[in-house]
Amino acid sequence: MHPLPASASVRVRRAELSDLDDLVTLEESSFDTDRLSRAQYRRHLDSDSALVLVASANHRNFLGTAVVFFRKGSRVARLYSIASKPETRGKGVGAALLDAVEAAARQRRCHAVRLEVRDDNAGAVRLYERHGYRHIGHYPHYYQDGTHAWRYEKSLD
Ligand SMILES: CC(C)(COP(=O)(O)OP(=O)(O)OC[C@H]1O[C@@H](n2cnc3c(N)ncnc32)[C@H](O)[C@@H]1OP(=O)(O)O)[C@@H](O)C(=O)NCCC(=O)NCCS
Repeated sequence: MHPLPASASVRVRRAELSDLDDLVTLEESSFDTDRLSRAQYRRHLDSDSALVLVASANHRNFLGTAVVFFRKGSRVARLYSIASKPETRGKGVGAALLDAVEAAARQRRCHAVRLEVRDDNAGAVRLYERHGYRHIGHYPHYYQDGTHAWRYEKSLD
């Protein structure tokens, strides 16, 4: 395994069909419940109301992903999922993905990004809070396994 060098600059691009295997593998290694299936990823790649982003750096083509949903008539983007490959965590991939999510939301004239996170996911909560997301709600038993969710929002204005 080759850890991501600290100097590697992370790029974020739109996911393509050829990313499907990596997306599904990362989904399975990152989430125990509420996973997106291959068919769901496949649909989201072609959808106007979804954006699947992929982070890459240097020669390593797939380091992580974020999935964002947009709704017609709504100016709030929903960050549905974000994950980086286990061996690259803590190296800024999550931060680069979040920046790209916010840029994409701004481009679609959204004024906020909203997300739900498991209330026991300290790593993700730290990432969101450091990036200016504010806790705006608590949803008991939100996930398939009964875990509670916190809702966070960042204003883009
Ligand atoms: C949450 C997640 C996306 C963060 O991605 P990341 O690539 O580690 O993000 P970053 O490197 O930008 O920031 C992670 C923070 O944790 C710290 N960290 C250090 N080592 C770490 C490690 N081994 N794992 C995770 N975070 C680590 C980082 O230093 C950073 O904090 P800091 O900037 O205050 O130092 C990633 O941990 C992940 O994929 N988790 C599993 C899926 C998940 O829970 N997703 C969120 C819910 S949808």
